[in-house]
Amino acid sequence: MISQELNDSLTRVGPGSDAGQVLRHYWQPAALSDELMSGRPVVPVKLLGEELVLFRDTEGKLGLIGRHCPHRGADLCYGRLEDNGLRCPFHGWHFNRDGQCVEQPGEPEGSKMHEQIKAPSYPVVERNGIVWAYMGPGEPPEFPAFDCFRAPDTHVFAFKGLWECNWLQAMEVGIDPAHASFLHRFLQDEDPADSYGKQFRDKAANTEIPMTKLLRDYPRPDIEVEDTDYGLKLTALRHMEDGRTHVRVTNQIFPEAICIPMSREMTITQWHVPVDDETCYWYSMFTSYTAPVDKVKMREQRLKEHRLPDYAPLKNARNNYGYDPDEQARETYTGMGLDINVHDQWAVESMGRIQDRTQEHLGKSDVGIIRNRRKLRAAIAAVKAGKPEELPMRNGTDVSRITGPVSNDAIAEDGDWNAATLTSDEQRRAECPWDARV
Ligand code: FES
Ligand SMILES: [Fe+2]
Repeated sequence: MISQELNDSLTRVGPGSDAGQVLRHYWQPAALSDELMSGRPVVPVKLLGEELVLFRDTEGKLGLIGRHCPHRGADLCYGRLEDNGLRCPFHGWHFNRDGQCVEQPGEPEGSKMHEQIKAPSYPVVERNGIVWAYMGPGEPPEFPAFDCFRAPDTHVFAFKGLWECNWLQAMEVGIDPAHASFLHRFLQDEDPADSYGKQFRDKAANTEIPMTKLLRDYPRPDIEVEDTDYGLKLTALRHMEDGRTHVRVTNQIFPEAICIPMSREMTITQWHVPVDDETCYWYSMFTSYTAPVDKVKMREQRLKEHRLPDYAPLKNARNNYGYDPDEQARETYTGMGLDINVHDQWAVESMGRIQDRTQEHLGKSDVGIIRNRRKLRAAIAAVKAGKPEELPMRNGTDVSRITGPVSNDAIAEDGDWNAATLTSDEQRRAECPWDARV
């Protein structure tokens, strides 16, 4: 349990808020590149409680500026995309991609007033299918050399989905290795051959055991948590009857991402990005270490479960997440279908828009959550003390040397689980068609 005051400090994200100030020191996913593929590449973006508009101008360059026109507040998402910027349809004020007003066609000839008018604007860059924004003070940081950024575009597929809850509880489900044995339990095993693009449906590491069976049979993992340059490394150990140990390594990337194995072929690096205090998007980068990602298939699978343009899931609180008590009795632990994203969505949304952590009771299996909150508190304190140079990955560490992170499932024949996971990671990297060496 934590106090209401601390819960507010850890969760709220608007300008000037505690966690919001920390998040603003890191690149934030603002949109999928896919969203700018239409004939008129202009999309509304709400990020960290701020209303913005993202556009690709006539030179092909990106701009991210305040959504409301600095004149009298009209919505620039309806702006005319012309001359390297957006022109407000109300009185024709024109803004370039830095938010500078460059023309006020209704003001007196020769007026210099526009020189004083600037909409908020933030730097943006595009990386492997995602447009990233930096909304903090000073210079934006370099991108770390994570696999999802190093892999060529052909080997990364990006997608997103809307969750109707605060970002922190959304992320906390990703640093909770114990829940997979329950929330994502399938009472019968599917054919692992049908597992492409899905999580927990492959065989476990180099065994013939379906992942679903392993998670079901061994529900009490030992969880080890280590501090790293990028955040936390979590190792979940499931000690099997035959003396072998299943080792699953996942990661928290400070402040709001996770990196987890999806299958033997791919990992998922997933950001939980605040739209505002009560809504967030997950942005996933599916990274392949073997063949190019089948983006058409991956997109089709996910578009069947989401509506456009806001990427809201079709199963949600309004239709009880498709809950079927017969299915819950016979097939799945939740009764909400086979898509594990829906399970996670139910888990985090059903807590309430902002989980009331004054009423929670954390157990030993919540060690990742406890350690992460401690890191976030330290970061909040550092920013408040005017010492942003103490933040993870902003503290002078050469982020171009922060690689990986290692995310995999492995089987340790003996007790040396660390060697098992590292050997399996080295093998994957050695065989990778792009340069994944670390
Ligand atoms: S409100 Fe935009 S130009 Fe007047
Ligand atoms: Fe999950």
